[in-house]
Amino acid sequence: MIILGIETSCDDTCIAIYDTKYGLIANNKYTQPIHTIFGGVIPKFSSIYHLNKLISIIKSLLLKLKITNINAIAYTAGPGLYTSLLIGAYIAYSISYTLNIPIIGVNHLEGHIFSAMINKTKPHFPFISLLISGGNTQLIDVHNIGHYKLIGSSLDDSLGETFDKIAKVLNLSYPGGEKLSYLSNFGKINKQLIPKILAYNINFSFSGIKTYYFKQKQLTKKHKYQYKANLAKSFEEYILNIMSLKCYKALIKYGRSCLIISGGVSANNNLRKNFINKLKNKINNFTIYFPEKNLCTDNAAMIAYVGAIRITSGEKLNNNIIIRPIWSLEKLKYPLLNILY
Ligand code: KG4
Repeated sequence: MIILGIETSCDDTCIAIYDTKYGLIANNKYTQPIHTIFGGVIPKFSSIYHLNKLISIIKSLLLKLKITNINAIAYTAGPGLYTSLLIGAYIAYSISYTLNIPIIGVNHLEGHIFSAMINKTKPHFPFISLLISGGNTQLIDVHNIGHYKLIGSSLDDSLGETFDKIAKVLNLSYPGGEKLSYLSNFGKINKQLIPKILAYNINFSFSGIKTYYFKQKQLTKKHKYQYKANLAKSFEEYILNIMSLKCYKALIKYGRSCLIISGGVSANNNLRKNFINKLKNKINNFTIYFPEKNLCTDNAAMIAYVGAIRITSGEKLNNNIIIRPIWSLEKLKYPLLNILY
């Protein structure tokens, strides 16, 4: 079965082709340049760009791959920006109606969780998922596909937003997470730049750490490149420490030994390299999974993949256009007859 994936929940216009026999065939992303000028996502511009771009990128991908037999469409139904979701959904429905093929609305967060399994060895259920993206920071206990319990989340900014804001302190342009990560390669950890960790429970809060680094703003203006690189490195070390501590608490509390880290911030090299060392001696049979780097930030491959699992598992589909700008994973309920995972 060949599935076309469409993802338009925020500021990236993404499409993908997933084949249930051969795996991921294509994964394309058009990153809207306009938001860099404003230093953040402007919803109105985001939907205008989706409207202008989506059909043309689908057309050129299908022509390039000479694909004429799409069997189903999976699109992001939420959570996300209302008008951006709406454009993705309407275009997806138009194609499905014209080609007379099934369509399925996928939860973006569920897509991020399963992005770690595309074309890879699959972990066994149950596991803990740490979802760290631009829009969300969540710890989820995953019993099975479609059975999720939210066990921790950010009380203020997401981790991605925090990276972007600290990057701004360092005069790096939006979105600054990846640039900060690059800068940290040239820095050394300065213990004075790492605040004390307070971890009473498994929720997150990043407002304190933001204020702490904003206070360094004057310093970074005066100081040279090396100081900024040290600040970036120390910030990343702080994040590694706090995130691994919260994950440890979650794994112990729910009796799990497998952790999946996904979402845009999971592309961070420091987290990818060092998270395992923080936990491997503390938890028996500990295993950790990350998505491939190009599948960490928003993408349509994860949407097509979840769509593929759900369709082939026998979910009964209906043809209503569904948009859910707010959509908790816990609200996801779909009866799967026979999970083919
Ligand atoms: O998953 P994503 O595309 O957004 C949502 O689904 O909401 O993640 C985007 C976020 C941005 O905040 C970006 O700065 C951050 O992921 N990011 C990174 C890295 N690459 C992207 N943060 C830290 N290190 C990176 N290498």
